[in-house]
Amino acid sequence: MPIRSLGYIHLDVTDLAEWEVFAGEFLGLMPTPAPVDDSRYYRIDHFPSRLATHLAGTPGLRALGFEVLDRGELAELADALRAEGVAVIEGDDALCTQRQVTGLISFRDPGGNPIEAFYGPVLTHVRLDTPLVSGFVTGAQGFGHAIVAVEDVSAAYDFYTRVLGFWERNNMRIGDGELFFLACNERHHTLGIMPMPGPGRLVHVMVEAQTLDDVGLAIDRAERLGVPMQQTLGRHTNDHMVSFYVYSPERYAVELGWGGLRIPQHGPTYAITQGAFWGHKFTPPPEAATG
Ligand code: FE2
Repeated sequence: MPIRSLGYIHLDVTDLAEWEVFAGEFLGLMPTPAPVDDSRYYRIDHFPSRLATHLAGTPGLRALGFEVLDRGELAELADALRAEGVAVIEGDDALCTQRQVTGLISFRDPGGNPIEAFYGPVLTHVRLDTPLVSGFVTGAQGFGHAIVAVEDVSAAYDFYTRVLGFWERNNMRIGDGELFFLACNERHHTLGIMPMPGPGRLVHVMVEAQTLDDVGLAIDRAERLGVPMQQTLGRHTNDHMVSFYVYSPERYAVELGWGGLRIPQHGPTYAITQGAFWGHKFTPPPEAATG
């Protein structure tokens, strides 16, 4: 079980200020000093940061960072990846400083998504202050979950389960393909892999608030700040989370939820036939409506 949780997400963005409004004023994450220039870092718990945005010409996922136990597990994982023929880069001091961790390796998943494994977050001891949100559900469950697109979902499934140690919670047929929800701790799913043509990319990120009111208040903030809704409030059939989705400035989705299932151990997998018991009505991005 090398991977323990989703630790951090680093994004390349074209407008840091737009993200300050999105991450700070809408999502309610706590801005924290950035260790590198042209970047903004955000906290939601004891981690030095969970989300970071870096100014870049082309938007996209810079790194999805998964936590392992310690340096020994990181070395074992690097060996296992190399045995599979995966190119593994050891993070140097500069990269560790940027990610605020003690050690890391970076590699690509079969879809080409930039993945990292790390140990030893370098903690800040400044008191957490998130006045807009009563709190976020993290701890052993990590930052939240992410869904990434991969062209060959079978190859990605094999990679994430056999090499990285995730296990399948459930699947769902979409068209000719199959979407898989994978777990590495008691959070129902930490990673989703979705078959889509083309290079791998980020589809959505989920953060979980501690109360239903946190979700409702965030819906009010989205409306006030003009953050476009992607899916209305709804309840998922797989993790039973009550959530809504908005479009990020880069137009991948961000889900804010509450009340996700905790599943302490492996259980039988199952298939779902629709995403939500109720709600989660989809709205195209605003560009589609005006264009
Ligand atoms: Fe989700």
